[in-house]
Amino acid sequence: MQNNKTTERKTMKSLLSSSSSSSPGLRKPRLSPYLFSLLTFILFVAILYGEDFMCIFGRQLQLGPVDSERPFSRTVKKREKLPFAVGKTPEGCDVFSGRWVRDESNRPLYEESECPYIQPQLTCLEHGRPEKEYQYWRWQPHGCDLPRFNATLMLETLRGKRMMYIGDSLNRGQYVSMICLLHSLIPEDQKSMETFGSLTVFTAKEYNATIEFYWAPFLLESNSDDAVIHRVSDRIVRKGSINKHGKHWKGVDIAVFNTYLWWMTGLKMKILLGSFDDEVKDIVELTTEDAYRMAMKSMLRWVRLNMDPKKTRVFFTSMSPSHAKSIDWGGVEGGNCYNETTIIEDPAYWGSDCRKSVMEVIGEVFGKSKVPITFLNITQLSNYRKDAHTSIYKKQWNPLTPEQLANPVSYADCVHWCLPGLQDTWNELLFAKLFYP
Ligand SMILES: *[C@@H]1O[C@H](CO)[C@@H](O)[C@H](O)[C@H]1NC(C)=O
Ligand SMILES: *[C@@H]1O[C@H](CO)[C@@H](O)[C@H](O)[C@H]1NC(C)=O
Ligand SMILES: *[C@@H]1O[C@H](CO)[C@@H](O)[C@H](O)[C@H]1NC(C)=O
Ligand SMILES: *[C@@H]1O[C@H](CO)[C@@H](O)[C@H](O)[C@H]1NC(C)=O
Repeated sequence: MQNNKTTERKTMKSLLSSSSSSSPGLRKPRLSPYLFSLLTFILFVAILYGEDFMCIFGRQLQLGPVDSERPFSRTVKKREKLPFAVGKTPEGCDVFSGRWVRDESNRPLYEESECPYIQPQLTCLEHGRPEKEYQYWRWQPHGCDLPRFNATLMLETLRGKRMMYIGDSLNRGQYVSMICLLHSLIPEDQKSMETFGSLTVFTAKEYNATIEFYWAPFLLESNSDDAVIHRVSDRIVRKGSINKHGKHWKGVDIAVFNTYLWWMTGLKMKILLGSFDDEVKDIVELTTEDAYRMAMKSMLRWVRLNMDPKKTRVFFTSMSPSHAKSIDWGGVEGGNCYNETTIIEDPAYWGSDCRKSVMEVIGEVFGKSKVPITFLNITQLSNYRKDAHTSIYKKQWNPLTPEQLANPVSYADCVHWCLPGLQDTWNELLFAKLFYP
């Protein structure tokens, strides 16, 4: 964070100094002394509060009713109906702005034990979570109600179609949530789930429908692309390489992208300019934000060239927050999501694990683009859910050491989410945006 601020300030400073030196004696005489000192003051404040200025600017870009409520494109406004739409969300209602309410009669939307597709990293009850408080929360937007998730409508819509989630393990969680929301409507002998390398395909046979997940944690080609062995210490992403994976996404009717966590190395990102086969690799280092911007632009370009806006819908899910430091929410030093069973009540809460600057990059790139992508802004609503992570209640691939066992905080997973749980809400929001845009 601190580093970002310094860089942004530096950039602003250099921008400012270059522009003032390019027009030396010309402008000054025209400005009244008063105006000149006012300008100087504004520039001074801008330098001092560089990041906040960016924030305010970013928000203005984002929060206009058009941008927050529709895909980031003005052209969409003129189109009478988006594909698959059956209704409309009330004018001016931002479904991502709201609060969590307890709802024991309508939640969870399915039982953990009734959905065999949940991977053992996400079955918290099976792995000993002692309570299921996290399952009883419903998202309530401030301005309207979310439409009820209608599995029949979703499955009928997918008849003869392909839906694909593309991204990292968090997107895989949302993918599995969608299958859990739908599978009970499909008889046992009519459904299957198979994995082919990076691609996992759930098939609903009599519907001739597939719901797929494609592992591409950076969307672009990287050295972390192996769907099983992808934990490499030194991550490298190849510039301009989206087609390497993108060729496997062609022809889908509904695409749901995400990418975030893998960019958060805490270091600069290594970007490969040539090919992974080059003996001497041509690598440049970019800030996380610049590298992420590059990926966003590649994704939008891919969508523009490969998806037909008259027949398909494309979604992008924003950053999934982690809860690795309990001091963020006023907890004890050294704690994390382990043993958390309540939500965060402070509406303004924003943890230290989630970078606002990355959200701003998304806003900036999408804001400029005419490609109709619907933004699923799940970051803030998930920020409140420190209780919803898998924590220690998941399959461990390696046996835990006595030291770890003595200190559960040390091995709690505060990144991924239990199912059923928070990610069902992400799909309820996807459902809302798909059918009631
Ligand atoms: C996402 O939603 C939150 C909560 O409503 C809002 O504060 C934030 O500005 C939104 N971000 C974007 C990029 O729309
Ligand atoms: C769900 O969708 C189906 C198919 O469109 C429709 O027939 C049914 O009435 C819907 N159910 C509810 C509860 O709205
Ligand atoms: C099944 O769906 C695919 C698209 O996923 C389509 O190309 C094909 O024509 C469909 N087949 C039938 C028999 O409807
Ligand atoms: C878990 O939290 C409760 C209070 O919320 C506390 O009483 C208990 O000691 C904590 N357990 C552990 C193992 O930290």
